Amino acid sequence: MNEALPEPYVIEGKLPDRYPRGWFCIGTDYEFTSVPTKLDYFGTSLVAYRGADSGDIHVLDAYCPHMGANLAGGQVVGDSVICPFHAWSWGADGFCKDIPYAQKIPAKARIKSWPAMEQNELVYVWHDPDGGPPIEAQAIPREDEIYDEAWTPWVIRRVEVGSNCRELIDNMADKAHFVPVHGAEEITFFQNISEAHTYTQLMKGKSMGGVMDSRATYYGPGYMFHSMTTDMPDGVTARFLSLVMNVPTSLSSFEFLAGFKYPIPPGMEGNTVAQIAHVNEIIDQNVQGVFADLAIWQDKVTIDNPLLCDGDGPVTRLRQWYNQFLVPVDQVPASLAGRKVYDKS
Ligand code: FES
Ligand SMILES: [Fe+2]
Repeated sequence: MNEALPEPYVIEGKLPDRYPRGWFCIGTDYEFTSVPTKLDYFGTSLVAYRGADSGDIHVLDAYCPHMGANLAGGQVVGDSVICPFHAWSWGADGFCKDIPYAQKIPAKARIKSWPAMEQNELVYVWHDPDGGPPIEAQAIPREDEIYDEAWTPWVIRRVEVGSNCRELIDNMADKAHFVPVHGAEEITFFQNISEAHTYTQLMKGKSMGGVMDSRATYYGPGYMFHSMTTDMPDGVTARFLSLVMNVPTSLSSFEFLAGFKYPIPPGMEGNTVAQIAHVNEIIDQNVQGVFADLAIWQDKVTIDNPLLCDGDGPVTRLRQWYNQFLVPVDQVPASLAGRKVYDKS
C-alpha cells in the first residue's frame, strides 16, 4: 500500500516582540568625536558623543523632552550636549544642567543615559528592554591581538536590512550555506560551542583554492569577533580580523555592520589615512563576498520551525542560546551557563 503523501509544509514564524539585551557595537573609536552622532536604533533615536574635555563616550536619548528636538543637531560643551532648539544643556548622566533663560530647572528634566564602553578600538552601547544595568560577566573582553601595531585600524561598513536581527545570528550554525552563499569549496570541520552569553563557531575547509581556518565568537546578541587564515595557492598565508555585528533599528529591521582589520602593507606604517584607504580597497574588491547574505536576508521570511536535515548545523541549539537575550534576566535558563560543544564535522 502506498504511504500517504505529506501535505505541503507550513512555515511558522513570528517576529520577536522585544529587542535583545546586551552590548551592541556602534562603531570604531575614531568615528566618535565631540561632534554628536545620530543613531536611529531600537525604534528610537540616540545621540553619541565624546566629552569635549574628558574624551569619554556618552550615549543619550536623542529626543529633547522640552519640545522634541533631536540633540544630535546640537553642540557639545564639556561633557554636556546643548539642544539646538532652545539650548537646554543635558549632562552625560541624562540630567538637565542648565536652561539659559529659566530660573529653575523642572524637576522632571531627565533623559535616559545609555551605558557605553570602549574596548578593542570599538564603541559599544548596552541595551536592556527591562532597564537593567550592564551584566558584569558580559562586558566585552579585550582581544590583545587587536592592539598589535601590525594591524590597520578597523574599517566598518553599514547596511540596513529589512529583517529581524535574529536572522543574521543563524549564520553561526548554518554550516550548509557557506558553500552556496560564500563560495567555500568544502567544509571539512565544523563545530559550535555555546557557553553562557558566548557562542563560538570553529570552521575549517577549502576556499579560493587554499586551506581556510576560521574562528568566530559572539559575545552577546550583537557583537561577533572573527579571525580567519587562508593558505593561498601561491603559498602565501592571508590573515585578517573581522567583525559581524548588528544593531536593531526596529523589530523588523537592523543595521548590519561588517568590520575589517588587515596587516599593514610595507611602506604604510604610521600612515593611518593610507591604511584605512587600503582596507576600503580590499572591501570594495570583495564586496560580493562580504555582503553575500544580504540578498537572502532582505527577502526571507521568519521561520520558527525550519525543516532541518542531518547535514545541517545545530540551528535549533543556536536559537535556544540566542533566546536568552529575549527574556528577562531572571528567566534565562540555568542550563545555558555551561560549555556545550556541538560537532557537525
Ligand atoms: S526642544 Fe530642546 S531645548 Fe527646546
Ligand atoms: Fe553567511
